[in-house]
Amino acid sequence: MLGQLLLATSRSALVRRSVSGFPLTRKVVDRFVAGEGVEEARTAIERLRDANLAVTVDHLGEETRDARAAAATAKAYITLLAALRPLELGRRGEVSVKLSALGQRLDDAMALEHAREICAAADANGSTVTLDMEDHTTVDSTLGILRKLRADFPSTGVAIQSYLFRSVDDCRELAGEGSRVRLVKGAYREPATVAHQGKSDVDKAYVRCLRILMAGQGYPMVATHDDRIISITELLADRFGRGLGSYEYQMLYGIRTDRQEDLAGAGHTVRVYVPYGDDWYGYFMRRLAERPANVAFFLRALGGK
Ligand code: FDA
Repeated sequence: MLGQLLLATSRSALVRRSVSGFPLTRKVVDRFVAGEGVEEARTAIERLRDANLAVTVDHLGEETRDARAAAATAKAYITLLAALRPLELGRRGEVSVKLSALGQRLDDAMALEHAREICAAADANGSTVTLDMEDHTTVDSTLGILRKLRADFPSTGVAIQSYLFRSVDDCRELAGEGSRVRLVKGAYREPATVAHQGKSDVDKAYVRCLRILMAGQGYPMVATHDDRIISITELLADRFGRGLGSYEYQMLYGIRTDRQEDLAGAGHTVRVYVPYGDDWYGYFMRRLAERPANVAFFLRALGGK
């Protein structure tokens, strides 16, 4: 219930202005966001690299309806990738992109063109790009853009959300050789006509999708903080003869950092999703919605504790 309310307010301009105005909000946001500028992001990325963690970096922003803002986002990614080049992270330093920040709501062709520029810059670093998945109205467009990007940049990945009914079929289509799928549960408020609503149904759907990806020829990216899913992944890896390096785990910056390091210590590739930038509101509200304890943490900080 609280989660649904937070997801609804994640799209409210009024709440965005009020929350952003609290001076202490910044302190709490810092737990989930690596900083506002490229330099802060780079410092966080170096720290993660030194802890044996790979990264996927997200320049925060979404839902733009302004062509200039879309071009500015693409430029921000190109600047970021140039700043990361000297770190020589290769595939361990990829980026995550929300197509809605590149103008997808205005024009698919514009988003594709900007995404292509980012893929080329990532490719120059020996790295790649994963497309985040946003609300269900964008899935067909995102998968269409993915297909076009993969013609030139075959390692481009995409997130698939287990809560959507369609995702089992999407996983089947994307389980072929060379494909990179990040499987997530899904973070948006979706209607019952398109998505499972109960947690246990979403979890079961996650396992169905995971089985298809682990049995397939692609590279599954298991993005979750859920220990039960991690155990099931290990069983499936055994069953389908997948060794370390033929799949990876992904977690969000600031969430379950001990577990990230444990898994990396056991030899797994663990990639941390590192968001940075000043447009943190939507991302931050989705993290609060996922876990009531995060709301308590936020309220305590607002109260100065
Ligand atoms: P679940 O929510 O069931 O949580 C399992 C356990 O993890 C909890 O009991 C708690 O211990 C811990 N946990 C989970 N969330 C937490 C939080 N916010 N704070 C503290 N602890 C928490 N979604 C999407 O729609 N499109 C996308 O492109 C992406 N991309 C993406 C990348 C990566 C790397 C990750 C890890 C996640 C995403 N997501 C996403 C978000 C995803 O859909 C989902 O909302 C969250 O990962 C939470 O789901 P879990 O699988 O962690 O399980």
